[in-house]
Amino acid sequence: MDLNHLKAVALAAAHEGGNFIRSRLDRTRRIEHKGEIDLVTEADLGAEKLIIDTIRTSFPDHTILSEEQGLTAGRTRYQWIIDPLDGTTNFAHGLTTCCVSIAVVKENQPLVGIVWSLFSEELFLAVRGEGAFLNGRRLSVSDADQVQDSLLATGFPYNVKEIMVPVMNRFTRCLEASQGIRRFGSAALDLCYVAAGRFDAYWEEQLHPWDTAAGHLIVTEAGGHVTDFNNCPFVPDMKSILASNGRIHNQMLELLDLKGTE
Ligand code: IPD
Ligand code: CA
Ligand code: CA
Repeated sequence: MDLNHLKAVALAAAHEGGNFIRSRLDRTRRIEHKGEIDLVTEADLGAEKLIIDTIRTSFPDHTILSEEQGLTAGRTRYQWIIDPLDGTTNFAHGLTTCCVSIAVVKENQPLVGIVWSLFSEELFLAVRGEGAFLNGRRLSVSDADQVQDSLLATGFPYNVKEIMVPVMNRFTRCLEASQGIRRFGSAALDLCYVAAGRFDAYWEEQLHPWDTAAGHLIVTEAGGHVTDFNNCPFVPDMKSILASNGRIHNQMLELLDLKGTE
């Protein structure tokens, strides 16, 4: 498979979806609840349809896993993993920190990752073995080697009430140890900001493949490191994620490890 062809179709799909989301920001938005605080808007659904239609036109046999439509099995080993709108809660409140996230994976190995932050016009792109780029400029993670010199990011999953104690314990430990913590509301962008050296590390639990598949490749191609909280290597369906510049990874693992503190 020609990686350039996959990349071109992923870019076209991201632009189709992103332009639709952009067109909905100032209009009345129909918002539905998937859970108590888990929202879906007409922008999520419309963008997802445009993205999938674009992919299907070029690759009718590929498997597609997408947040709202779920899994459509194909007849090849190529799988597209799509979050049509990452940052839905922001978008539903008129905040523009959100993005389209698209990854192409073959047997759990990400080949292409695209995260398009459409309102800030930042296109994050990585192709396996070729590096990570922001609007064409090569990305590299930060060189901070101490958490006390680091700016961190995290997010809170929709079921946070069920796991409030460990989530807040990890938050407190990291807040005490670092320069500060940001919560921007888009896991895919949090990962890209680690790749760009804006954040030195990012962690979250209870995520889904569509939140992390593209961002993971962008971080690793920028020289960063991605594991779960137990230091196991990234796989798209793992339930916790720690992405860092590599240098502070072990310090972050210690802070996130609650054994002996509970
Ligand atoms: C959410 C965002 C948020 C993260 C949540 C995700 P969505 O995705 O990435 O930052 O904290 O865990 O579910 O619902 O906006 O696509
Ligand atoms: Ca998401
Ligand atoms: Ca989403």
